Amino acid sequence: MEKFVVTGGNKLFGEVSISGAKNAAVAIIPAVILCDEPCTIENIPNISDVALIGRILQSMGAEIKRIDKSTLYIDPTHITTYCATNEMVRGMRASYYLLGALLGKYKKAKVALPGGCDFGVRPIDQHLKGFALLGADHDLINGAIIDLDCHGKLTGNHIYLDVVSVGATMNIMLAAVKAEGQTVIENAAKEPHIVDLANFLNSMGANIKGAGTDVIKIRGVEYLHGVTYSIIPDQIEAGTYMCAAAATRGAITVNNVTPKHLDSITAKLREMGVEVTEYDESVKIDATKRPLSKCNIKTMPHPGFPTDCQPQFAALLTTVPGTSIINENVWDNRYQYINEFLRMGAQISVESKLAIIEGGKELTAAPVKATDLRAGVALIIAALCAKGTTEISNIQFIERGYEDIVEKFSALGANIKKVYFRDDTDAKMNA
Ligand code: EPZ
Repeated sequence: MEKFVVTGGNKLFGEVSISGAKNAAVAIIPAVILCDEPCTIENIPNISDVALIGRILQSMGAEIKRIDKSTLYIDPTHITTYCATNEMVRGMRASYYLLGALLGKYKKAKVALPGGCDFGVRPIDQHLKGFALLGADHDLINGAIIDLDCHGKLTGNHIYLDVVSVGATMNIMLAAVKAEGQTVIENAAKEPHIVDLANFLNSMGANIKGAGTDVIKIRGVEYLHGVTYSIIPDQIEAGTYMCAAAATRGAITVNNVTPKHLDSITAKLREMGVEVTEYDESVKIDATKRPLSKCNIKTMPHPGFPTDCQPQFAALLTTVPGTSIINENVWDNRYQYINEFLRMGAQISVESKLAIIEGGKELTAAPVKATDLRAGVALIIAALCAKGTTEISNIQFIERGYEDIVEKFSALGANIKKVYFRDDTDAKMNA
């Protein structure tokens, strides 16, 4: 068993470099299936979700070579199947992108239902509605495998999404790239990783217009050629370190970011009294100059405040005197982690979509569990601010999405270690 052991009290200072965006990488890697030649993808984050999607593609016949830590060469030309049904597929939510990519390429797809972080019900009805409008029927085999078939032909169509869904927007885009005629996705999601996927597909010869707006037009093409493409920086990883610096009342520079992608996070930090200075590819956060004030947050699809930074901001707000209210407006059940915060002495109550935080009470160390990826990293932030040494278990969730997290936090002055436990009483420190 592995845990993070974090001793609180150190303010974060220094510089951190942000890796490529997880939620772009987990779509762009399966998107290579659509390509008729090999591709080289740069700025890939070295995280377990990326390793897993790579292994899934390899199990289907793709050749994958790691050129360096952040560059993958992927040759999809030897993929011999439209099926991805093994256990690995269930290990991550984003394996649903295999549906769109395989359907686009082979006009058929058989993919195991995805797993991933548990925020209650995570439907994919909008993905399936989009595929159906392109001409693909679906069957659910034994409640566990989705079988899509368009009988040899995908045809472009108008698709109105009933909810703004990142996954449905990207998945429909993947299938529509090789559909006949024009597909229009209305009420599309606008996250930076949607623009990144569209840019990647366009660089291979696809014809996608409007990504980043709520109407995306895709004209199908027959052939996609190989490219070298660099993934955008991870907006949420950047927001996490910005938040951690503010929570510890430190001052850091966050490098390799696109400041525009961080607008909603920057705005909230400024509202609280944190000084944020933007440069071309970095932002500087300074929380040393004045006391921070409470604030309210409502999560929304982009360009609103990202749900994937909600738990980290909850950690920050526990350190700020006064009552702050979070309104989680994207997921039904993204407050499981609050129980772990309560064990550390935080004063938070949850009423439906709202978390009401009475901030400014001292946090104290406790054994806690990551309940999902962002919840886990929020516990690290809380632990950095707490009195004493906190042990965080279930860290496999955190390692799904954060590259070199111990090294990056340590370089900023945090006291954090990854520790291997034989059991709860016998700890062996990582040499
Ligand atoms: C993506 O999930 C991200 N995951 C999530 O990040 C992120 O929280 C979420 O977008 C919202 O930004 C990946 O990119 C791999 P959605 P996704 O479809 O695509 C409802 C992280 O921590 N909905 O935009 O699965 C759904 O229930 C992860 O990095 C339907 O009703 O999210 C939710 O309420 C966790 N029907 C809302 O839409 C559907 O068919 C948004 O979900 C699809 C979604």
